[in-house]
Amino acid sequence: MQTRAQQDGLPHSLMVSNVVGGVAAPVTAVFERRSPANRDDLVTVAPQSSREQVFEACQAARNAAVAWARVPAPERGRLLGRLAGLLAQEKERLSRFVSREVGKPLREARGSVQEAIDTAEFFQSEGRRLYGQTVPSELPNKELFTYRRPLGVVGLITAGNFPIAVPSWKIVPALLCGNTVVWKPSDDAPGTAALFFELLRRAGVPSGVVNIVHGVGAGGAGEFLIEAVAAGLVDKVSFTGSTAVGRKIGEVCGRQLQVPSLELGGKNPLVVLADADLELAVEGAVWASYGTAGQRCTSAGNIIVDRRVLPAFRERFVRRASSLKIGNPLDEQNDYGPFINQRFLERWIEQRSIGLSDGATLLLDGKRIAAADAVAGFSGDAARGIFATPRLFDNVRIDMRVAQDECFGPTVNLIEVDGLDEAIRTANGTPYGLSSAIYTRDAHAMLRFKEEIRAGMTSINNSTTGAEAHLPFGGNGWSGNGTRESGIWVLDSYTRWQAVNVDLSGKLQKAQIDLVDPEDSGAAALARVNDAIP
Ligand code: UN1
Repeated sequence: MQTRAQQDGLPHSLMVSNVVGGVAAPVTAVFERRSPANRDDLVTVAPQSSREQVFEACQAARNAAVAWARVPAPERGRLLGRLAGLLAQEKERLSRFVSREVGKPLREARGSVQEAIDTAEFFQSEGRRLYGQTVPSELPNKELFTYRRPLGVVGLITAGNFPIAVPSWKIVPALLCGNTVVWKPSDDAPGTAALFFELLRRAGVPSGVVNIVHGVGAGGAGEFLIEAVAAGLVDKVSFTGSTAVGRKIGEVCGRQLQVPSLELGGKNPLVVLADADLELAVEGAVWASYGTAGQRCTSAGNIIVDRRVLPAFRERFVRRASSLKIGNPLDEQNDYGPFINQRFLERWIEQRSIGLSDGATLLLDGKRIAAADAVAGFSGDAARGIFATPRLFDNVRIDMRVAQDECFGPTVNLIEVDGLDEAIRTANGTPYGLSSAIYTRDAHAMLRFKEEIRAGMTSINNSTTGAEAHLPFGGNGWSGNGTRESGIWVLDSYTRWQAVNVDLSGKLQKAQIDLVDPEDSGAAALARVNDAIP
């Protein structure tokens, strides 16, 4: 029998299962993932995991941990090299699937798969480093060393907006460092997770080393995975998502004396000074605000513009934003596609009234695109997809709620300031500190901004989005707990340092107590050298 989707010429739906100990776990309850660009397109059917199933997955990861930690790091790296190759081979197919499942524009979906390739390539050769140190001892005939040791079982919870890139930031280094994984992918992207897992399997990840449990966060697999921390089944959590959920996870992990990696929200400032190249600034600001339909944690939230150039900036920004093409994410003409999910849409709708009651004015009245009033140039299915036009608030002050609260979706605020000091103060005026940007030609202004902005990431004459995959990614304040992903910096999140001392003196030498007198030993050493000279 044909499904409705097939009759309509829609692609097949993917049925996915949990993977526990290398085998597909039996499915009891399920949930559906429909394309946000066309809700008739049933993309994936995935299991709604029970607590017991999540705990089983943690146990499977535990059982596999010792053997995986024994695999030499260069071999683990080689496996990741194979993963990079497979991702590259499958890039187009994966990108199209990402686009279909979460509504990311195809060009951006390709970029996000590339980010995973970059990550896997980076960590392939890290397997041949994973350096420890040799450290001089204060005592003779004694050697000191440091080693990075794996943590054990890591529980990963990821968001739907970068459903391959961000999981790769976690899974790839976690594996390289010798940990085993239980991954709870976003319920917005269960199919993408299954395709990614298939490549991990083909790359040679042994059974039980990566386990997947699908389901929702609150009241589902996500919450159960955090309960598994309290139950002693998980040694480390890495989470990308909201600040509110991050706080709860931090509390549970903190009680177990664990440090989770938390990549949370942002209200990222983009500053435009009076001397900026305005064309460049407008282009960067439009991309930072509306690229990915504003659904990156690095998307710009507040555009802070010097009053001397605000009228010119505002005029060009509005012109540019009004000509953005919205619609089917698979159509490469389009600048952005749909909301990833209904929740983001609802929150974005609510943000409109928040801004208005704050006293901000709407320069672009972003609205859901309904079938009846489809906007010029719109190419999507307004009745079946959740699309919206760009929103721009003007006359915003940093102390307004609309300037303080994160909102995923095509929306941004304009804030007028007078000079660099006020610009920096305003940019630092939210509790978040993830990404930031400044447009200026003045080297001193660049320097001051770099030094004084309280963000984990700063762009000079570039968008707030688009961090490269081998720099430390993460935020301060409400944007995270100070951990970083990517590059060599993430190694600290998936290893623990071990300090080793080896005493070859044949006697008990007490550190800090049996100190060697520099003069005596210097004289003795010189005498030995002299004795040796014929
Ligand atoms: C995210 O939105 O969670 O820097 C990640 C960027 C991308 C990653 C965003 N490389 O915008």
